[in-house]
Order: sequence, then C-alpha cells, then structure tokens
Amino acid sequence: MNGQRYVLANFKMNKNAGEIKKWADQILQLMYKRREKIRVKIGVAPSFVHILTAKSLFQGTDIMVGAQNMYYEERGAFTGEVSVSQLKDIGVDFVIIGHSERRKIFKEDNELIEKKLISAIRYGILPVLCVGETLGERENGLTEKVIDEQLKAVERIPDEMMKIDLVIAYEPVWAIGTGIPAKPDQIAEVINKIKNKLKNKFPKISVLYGGSIDENVAKEIRHICDGGLVGSASLDAQKFYKIAENFEI
Ligand code: PGA
Repeated sequence: MNGQRYVLANFKMNKNAGEIKKWADQILQLMYKRREKIRVKIGVAPSFVHILTAKSLFQGTDIMVGAQNMYYEERGAFTGEVSVSQLKDIGVDFVIIGHSERRKIFKEDNELIEKKLISAIRYGILPVLCVGETLGERENGLTEKVIDEQLKAVERIPDEMMKIDLVIAYEPVWAIGTGIPAKPDQIAEVINKIKNKLKNKFPKISVLYGGSIDENVAKEIRHICDGGLVGSASLDAQKFYKIAENFEI
C-alpha cells in the first residue's frame, strides 16, 4: 500500500530572504518547464522568520510551506517559542516534529514530541514526525525498540483523529548530514515495520526516508518509501527538484 508521496526540503538554519527568493524562482522555473505535473507533493520548511516570504513566493502553486518546529500550547509565557496557532494563522501546511537535532541538541523527549504531534493534528497542520535510531542503538540491536518507543506518540493519537493525513520520516541519526545514507534494505526493513504497525489505524499514512538523500538515493529507494525529507541537498534548487523527480513512480 502506498501513501501520498511527499518530497520535503528541510532548510534547517540556512538561507536568508534573498536566497529563499532565488531558490523559489529556480524551483518554479523547473516546475513550469515540465509538460506534466510532478507526481509528488513538494514542500519546503524554512526558518520561522522566512515562512511568510516562502508562502507569498509559492502562493497559487502546489508547493507546501512548512515549519521545522512548533510549541504545542496556543499562547502564553513561553519566551522564544512559536505556537501551533500562530503557525496555523499564517497558513503553514506542515510541521516537522521531533527531528533528531531537536531531540539531541534541544533535549526534546518523546513526551514533549507527543504533545506537539497531537496539537498539530488538532490544528489541522500536517505533522511530519521524525523517528530514527543512533549508530550505537543500531549496533546494539536496539533499532526496533527505539523506533517503537518513538512511535508510541502515534499510537496514542485519539481514535477520532484516525482519518488524518500523517507523515512519518524514518531518519537514522547516523545517516543525517553524514553523506552516508542507509542502504535500501535497511530502509525497507524499518519502513515496512512502521507501515505494518500503523496502517490499520492510519490508512492515509505516508512513510518517508531522510538522511543524506541525493538524486541517486532517491531513485534507488523510490519504490520502498513514499518520498523523502531532504536536508543538505535541498539547499540547491536544481538538486532538490531532481530528487523530487526521482521519487516519482
Ligand atoms: P540531510 O538531512 O539530508 O542533510 O542528511 C536530512 C534531515 O535532517 O532531515
């Protein structure tokens, strides 16, 4: 069973407004050069400060604009945070939740990530939940256990929310930003487990891969996942668009 296909750019803490405009111009040019519509949903998550710029650059197109993080409360004394309702207010289409850099550097735990996940769903923002094991966990045979633990947040989504679109990104921590992507059989093994575990409760689930994706990786794995979450290679518009095309089936 295949879910909706997504290819999402995660800019992380990169690009200023001018660079985003240039990126958007290049993507739109590539998009209009094609005779037929691309068969994946393309999205981009810039830093918070550039979301509105990206929204206006992509207005009237199929390109989704997302956020890289959010806070689950609606408002209040949470200095430095951006709330789910503020994202909704400016028309954010998707939000990355539980990225490994948030888990590791900013000490986000599964409990906090679960609150963010539920809150995004309540506000109708497509959640992209990141899961993945570290190298040490893989080497100690803990991959399945770690991912099961991270997926508890999904299993606890209330039943009345089962019809939602849900995106999980399997991103092995050791493959992120290292230039060493996981091998197709490693990706397939985890992605199939995630799908089997969740597909009954969430018939509209999409499971993406992330971690050093380039155009070759995209081509190789396009049949074993529903798309990709792309970091470094997404910063270059040409490379990113090629990756998106290589994820088409
Ligand atoms: P990468 O990042 O493509 O640079 O490995 C992926 C991610 O962090 O989502």
